[in-house]
Amino acid sequence: MGIPRALLVLCIATAFLSLGPRGSLGRSHLHKRQQSHGRRGNGGHRLQSPVDSPADPPAAGTSTTVTPSNSSSDSSVFDVRSFGAVGDGVTDDTEAFRSAWRAACSVESATLSVPSDGVFMITSTIFPGPCQPGLVFQVDGVVMPPDGPQCWPKSDSKHQWLVFYQLEGMTLRGEGTIEGNGEDWWSLPCKPHRGPHGSTLPGSCDSPVLIRFFMSCNLTVRDLRIENSPQFHIKFDACEDVHIEGLSINSPAFSPNTDGVHIENTRSVTIYNSMISNGDDCISIGPGCSDVDIQNVTCGPGHGISIGSLGMHNSEACVSNVSVKNAVIRNSDNGVRIKTWQGGMGSVSDISFDTVYMENVRNCIIIDQYYCSNKGYCQNQSSAVYVSGVTYANIKGTYDVRSPPMHFACSDTLPCTNITMSEVELLPHEGELVDDPFCWNAYGVMRTVTIPPIPCLQDGQPESLQEIPNLGC
Ligand SMILES: *[C@@H]1O[C@H](CO)[C@@H](O)[C@H](O)[C@H]1NC(C)=O
Ligand SMILES: *[C@@H]1O[C@H](CO)[C@@H](O)[C@H](O)[C@H]1NC(C)=O
Ligand SMILES: *[C@@H]1O[C@H](CO)[C@@H](O)[C@H](O)[C@H]1NC(C)=O
Ligand SMILES: *[C@@H]1O[C@H](CO)[C@@H](O)[C@H](O)[C@H]1NC(C)=O
Ligand SMILES: *[C@@H]1O[C@H](CO)[C@@H](O)[C@H](O)[C@H]1NC(C)=O
Ligand SMILES: *[C@@H]1O[C@H](CO)[C@@H](O)[C@H](O)[C@H]1NC(C)=O
Repeated sequence: MGIPRALLVLCIATAFLSLGPRGSLGRSHLHKRQQSHGRRGNGGHRLQSPVDSPADPPAAGTSTTVTPSNSSSDSSVFDVRSFGAVGDGVTDDTEAFRSAWRAACSVESATLSVPSDGVFMITSTIFPGPCQPGLVFQVDGVVMPPDGPQCWPKSDSKHQWLVFYQLEGMTLRGEGTIEGNGEDWWSLPCKPHRGPHGSTLPGSCDSPVLIRFFMSCNLTVRDLRIENSPQFHIKFDACEDVHIEGLSINSPAFSPNTDGVHIENTRSVTIYNSMISNGDDCISIGPGCSDVDIQNVTCGPGHGISIGSLGMHNSEACVSNVSVKNAVIRNSDNGVRIKTWQGGMGSVSDISFDTVYMENVRNCIIIDQYYCSNKGYCQNQSSAVYVSGVTYANIKGTYDVRSPPMHFACSDTLPCTNITMSEVELLPHEGELVDDPFCWNAYGVMRTVTIPPIPCLQDGQPESLQEIPNLGC
């Protein structure tokens, strides 16, 4: 695949650059800037124009230069207030953040600090790399975008708000909150059933992803609270080595399209010890992802943990080696889901859901190879994304009886194979047992008897599957 290879090159290149002469050149340049502008040395007054000009090359914070030999950690903290941020929740602090970023970016192991006593409003911003290694974006206060589409600057992207681009070895963390102010976006009349009389008005309905990491590697996002995103809360595309830990993501159940964590074309991801409640997928894993390890995640309300949708518009999509362990899913429209469009190509393989506790979940276990977001307008097509090697172990709890707790709707032409079930015990949350799980073209084994039993899961390998389809991607 093109993108991950390009990414690898980027990561190697930036690693090389940061060790190479460019780092030191950057440093001496910074020293000069520092001296000529006398920043921060004179009592930390607000910085004015020199740093604000977008044409300015990256500039360094001061303490490094004031006491070059002092290697205490404070020497590389770049407080956005020192760059002119006001933090009153009203003033546009974008330029201060950009300046602080440029300064921090050019110093090794620097911290851009958003102090705990402020609410900082900034508009859609790209924070570009490459930067010196070890950069930390520390949010202890509140950072938020303008309040809804009315206040969104006309010239700004409506696809994304904070973008971290071409970074290596960066950390986003803090005790603070990234507040998305999403309410007015959720109720746009083009959003599902938000038009007059419950209609959905036509037209483009772009709403910004709150935080996006793009073409970056070795990233850590931890401890933050992220809430009320206009669209996805945090998205990684074309990234590698992503570590998420201790996040708390919150939006109401009725907020449309507010996936918690979304990854695509991203390899080697860990998502640990996080709580996500929202109006769409808790975690969504798109095409081109592999080696994803999810542990100790609590989801709900929302739409559960989802692989897909894959294969839209006859595209090729592969996802492999995804493990979900020790998850809790509550009050959700789905539990653990794999969804693909008809007409796609590629494969989903080596997927494990182990020790998942469900509480009042619809479609606890579901594979849907007939996914269609515009109900009724999807034609039957024969090609499909091949689903094989999916393990469900120790999945317990309760389901919403409006749907069967297990649902395997596999492709007519390409059956799902090697589905393994053990210790699956699901009971109605309220009401009558639904003891007719749904299977269509699903092959696999029950290692232990499931509750409810799933006799429709067929033994062995399907005859129709003469040879293993080309799994290439
Ligand atoms: C570094 O700076 C801090 C605060 O300015 C000071 O307390 C400390 O002694 C300095 N350390 C060295 C090694 O100069
Ligand atoms: C990843 O980044 C961290 C800093 O965030 C750094 O300490 C570590 O060495 C990096 N790892 C690799 C493999 O580059
Ligand atoms: C699957 O992913 C894990 C990380 O989540 C990795 O340690 C392991 O080596 C991968 N397995 C394969 C077969 O690539
Ligand atoms: C998951 O939670 C358990 C129990 O709290 C803990 O022992 C384990 O280290 C956690 N796993 C990860 C990957 O943090
Ligand atoms: C697709 O196939 C199903 C089952 O064979 C059939 O019920 C349905 O009408 C078909 N849909 C279209 C759009 O052809
Ligand atoms: C079935 O899937 C398991 C794990 O998902 C894998 O280890 C095994 O090799 C697969 N078997 C076949 C025949 O594909």
